[in-house]
Amino acid sequence: MAQIIAIANQKGGVGKTTTAVNLAASLAILKKRVLLIDMDPQGNATMGSGIQKNDLVYSMTDVLLGEIHIENAIMTSEVGYKVLAANRDLSGVELIIAEKPAREFILKEALKEIDQQFDIILIDCAPSLSLITVNAMAAVDGVIIPMQCEYYALEGLADLTQTIDRIQQAINPKLEIIGVLRTMYDGRNALTRDVAGELEQYFGSKLYETVIPRNVRLAEAPAHGLPVIYFEKNSKGAISYLNLAAELLKKSNAKKG
Ligand SMILES: Nc1ncnc2c1ncn2[C@@H]1O[C@H](COP(=O)(O)OP(=O)(O)O)[C@@H](O)[C@H]1O
Ligand SMILES: [Mg+2]
Repeated sequence: MAQIIAIANQKGGVGKTTTAVNLAASLAILKKRVLLIDMDPQGNATMGSGIQKNDLVYSMTDVLLGEIHIENAIMTSEVGYKVLAANRDLSGVELIIAEKPAREFILKEALKEIDQQFDIILIDCAPSLSLITVNAMAAVDGVIIPMQCEYYALEGLADLTQTIDRIQQAINPKLEIIGVLRTMYDGRNALTRDVAGELEQYFGSKLYETVIPRNVRLAEAPAHGLPVIYFEKNSKGAISYLNLAAELLKKSNAKKG
């Protein structure tokens, strides 16, 4: 059975999609069978994996509407992992599925059909807590939270952990924070170091030792439809996401015992 992980934070621009795409590519390089699910109507994870979001035959939209079997929506990328793609059609789904019974569990049920085919399934979430995001939260074992080390990150912390607690109580008892990732890190900046220290106190061993530095190659690679490791394999961005993949696998193995 696959380990299913959402990459989530209610803030936009904190590195969710960058983490989803580059972690997927790194895990695939480490020989894991990976599915990346795009659950953001912006379709950035889709494009960042080299798939044209406007040319999709089937997408996440069709899966949530129950119009096709999930297997038919899974696409093969050229960057080592499979993709369940999304585009702006996904934003229209919300109102339609709101009327369905068990509307929070549509993705969870669909993933049961395919989770033997993968070792890890990563879900890139939108920054809102929509019914689409709730479907992701209901389907996962836990979340990875990317955080930019700035003052406002600390302000949002209580909200974020409360939201996760609420979802855990209401719809997914096993939901946990798998890890917290410091992104766009600039160690020369004193505020960054302060905030990083506070995150360490708050999250303890949940905070990944790996930090993702601010690295221009990470920002450039999506324009080429590539995870950074296929764009510039020796970049700091590529190396740090490989380190993150290794740290994640080590922690999951330790947990399994
Ligand atoms: N470590 C990084 N270094 C430099 N730029 C980054 C880094 N991480 C993300 N970015 C850039 O910051 C912007 C927001 O990142 P993104 O992953 O799209 O965030 P989110 O999905 O949380 O909205 C994007 O333009 C992305 O290319
Ligand atoms: Mg995003």
